Amino acid sequence: MANPHLNFIGAKCLTFAVLVVIFMQIVLRFSFKFSPFVLEANLRVLSGIQPSGRLHIGNFFGAIRQHMQLQADNECFYFIADYHALTSNPSPADIAQYTLDVAMDYIALGLDTEKTVFWRQSDVPEVTELTWLLSCVTPMGLLQRCVSFKEKVAQGFSPNHGLFAYPVLQAADILIYKSDLVPVGADQKQHIEVTRDIAVRFNNSYGQIFTVPSEHIIESVAVVPGTDGRKMSKSYNNTIEMFEPEKTIRKKVMRIVTDSTPVEEPKAPNKCNVFAFLKLIASSDELAEWENKYRSGGTGYAEAKKRLAELIIDYFKPYRQKREELEKNIDYVKEVFVKGAERAKAIAAETLDQARKAMGLGA
Ligand code: TRP
Repeated sequence: MANPHLNFIGAKCLTFAVLVVIFMQIVLRFSFKFSPFVLEANLRVLSGIQPSGRLHIGNFFGAIRQHMQLQADNECFYFIADYHALTSNPSPADIAQYTLDVAMDYIALGLDTEKTVFWRQSDVPEVTELTWLLSCVTPMGLLQRCVSFKEKVAQGFSPNHGLFAYPVLQAADILIYKSDLVPVGADQKQHIEVTRDIAVRFNNSYGQIFTVPSEHIIESVAVVPGTDGRKMSKSYNNTIEMFEPEKTIRKKVMRIVTDSTPVEEPKAPNKCNVFAFLKLIASSDELAEWENKYRSGGTGYAEAKKRLAELIIDYFKPYRQKREELEKNIDYVKEVFVKGAERAKAIAAETLDQARKAMGLGA
């Protein structure tokens, strides 16, 4: 006869096992959802790109490549954040040119203009009205805590109101298209948190209008080093652009800062800026060869740099051709803007209408 006591223990064990399985499932799902490597497909993905000049290799490996890859399995919305760019008061000629440059770069680098919605932020002014509505549920303190604002002020920049309100406009960008996922660099994490905070506050006060988005922080394979070894950034003047003349790319690569280990001596690959670049762009076989050459000595940095320049030029060659064709056909780029804005506007207008009604406007 079965021992009732043992039965009781058996039941307990079973319950425990079931709980463990449920728990593991939750953990797995959660970590998949937020893992940088495994993304659920078919999400509405949105990101904005500031038109601050021609894009560089740091932008490519840090964000553009991932933006392009996300297109295959998701519904992507990418726009040029020209309203945001105004906060640093560019000249009218510059902002117009930079907007075109960024658009040509994106299209040349693989933007699917049929599938992906791609537009100029300012062609859908509905987003600025939503910014106002959201402003009225946004505490000042939330914006005062924003690091990117505080950093600009610390640098001695005299901030305009646009710069202070920047995260609210960004929240409106994200919420007006009901985005699920926002792929951005780590520096934008706080702005997405602010967006979530604003969405929750609005939804709690006026009803479930907005989707609360997740950020997808793009951990680039490594931070792309600039020619001086710091992070590649326009503000450090250490960039290599993928579409500048090949001669300039070679010159800049030869200038990448390295240490003074003599040619014959072994070198540490993981301390070398040239090697960090090779890691991004060389095949795994070739990378292994370079690692060997570094460790065994007898190969100078100049040799590695020469090869790196050729690899960069080859990598971007097909895109460069496309870029050159686009430059001769600006009308096509403008057509892409018109079509993109139409598609974006249809969604934006509907969400704005919902938010206005929820708040009691136009009743
Ligand atoms: N602030 C972003 C940046 O500087 C650009 C941006 C504007 C953005 N609106 C956005 C990014 C909405 C993601 C979603 O990179």
